Amino acid sequence: MATILGIESTCDETAAAVVVDGRDVRSNVVATQVELHAKYRGVVPEIASRAHIENILPVLREAVDHAGCRFEDLDAVAVAHRPGLIGSLLIGVTAAKTLAWSLGKPLIGIDHVHAHLYSVLLREEARREGEGLATAAPAGSPAAPPRDGADVEFPAVGMVCSGGHTALYRVGSWTDVQLIGSTIDDAVGEAYDKVAAILGLGYPGGPILDKLAEAGDPRAVQFPRTLLGRDSLDFSFSGLKTAVLYHVRGVPGRGEDVKAGGPVALDDQQVKNIAASFQAACVDVVVKKLRRAIDQTGAKSVIVGGGVSANRGLRDALTRLPVPAFLPPMKYCTDNAAMSAGLADVYHREARFSALDLDAITYSQFRV
Ligand code: KG4
Ligand code: ZN
Repeated sequence: MATILGIESTCDETAAAVVVDGRDVRSNVVATQVELHAKYRGVVPEIASRAHIENILPVLREAVDHAGCRFEDLDAVAVAHRPGLIGSLLIGVTAAKTLAWSLGKPLIGIDHVHAHLYSVLLREEARREGEGLATAAPAGSPAAPPRDGADVEFPAVGMVCSGGHTALYRVGSWTDVQLIGSTIDDAVGEAYDKVAAILGLGYPGGPILDKLAEAGDPRAVQFPRTLLGRDSLDFSFSGLKTAVLYHVRGVPGRGEDVKAGGPVALDDQQVKNIAASFQAACVDVVVKKLRRAIDQTGAKSVIVGGGVSANRGLRDALTRLPVPAFLPPMKYCTDNAAMSAGLADVYHREARFSALDLDAITYSQFRV
């Protein structure tokens, strides 16, 4: 029975969590930077790394306190060391190395994307979550109760869909994860964030559009579904985003009344219909690609993680796949450290530890 501290700082969340036996989340502290980046409608790397420096020590202390343990009680220190923003990654990696070295505990480097897939195995923490810093739960509620991740059968098709990633994997085991397709332009969460910006809504756009879509007509606007080649497992969402832009502002060069700049006057129902129609296009594409991937890999299960896995339309559609789909509890869809601490348990059991020269590996060094 291992007690592992996980650290997450790949993008704009500073997080730490204590997980026992790879599944039982004893604490899950997430200091989000959403407000710092909201006015830029996206993550500003330099602002993110500075905020990580301020947050990392209080977040670590809170995670250990809320788990009711001491640093000395830990069996290992895990950290998401790839992929991510380099300045952000370095804060978590440095903190993890320092803790592991000073406590004399093993260090375990974790791939953030693999950890998103593993998050379907996490069980909600029994103890009270950290107050003040903790803002882990995304909006929305699951369409169906999630299946227990222990029932995942391999090989599985894994999909990670978030603000930074949209990719498909052949998952042979929790540590055997092979990339089989990815976006050639925008990530699906990024498309949500950009469409929300086009509609003059807040950031991050995913939860806002998801909520609006509930009250909209998904057939109101026929947005394109880009599937690329017949057998392709890659994604492209930039055309869909542009289609929303043209729908809202008019098509340049067609003599239409293109309203550049400031917000366009749309009534509430029009906004809801655009949200629902955009969401329907995203969900259709994701589900078609998952069906292709199941056919091509002979997968027995589907695992979906990452911020967009909180999406209600997607959760609902996944119940209609030919194989069982597994999703994380809502609070573990978006970035958190519990998923890294959980996956680290698999490495810990196999004594697969990292050396103290563990590198932080950014997006461009590593295709995801
Ligand atoms: O996994 P995550 O926290 O961070 C990244 O690694 O990117 O995902 C954040 C992304 C954002 O783009 C956000 O708009 C999207 O996930 N998101 C959603 C929903 N909740 C968060 N997208 C669609 N529907 C949602 N309910
Ligand atoms: Zn993520």
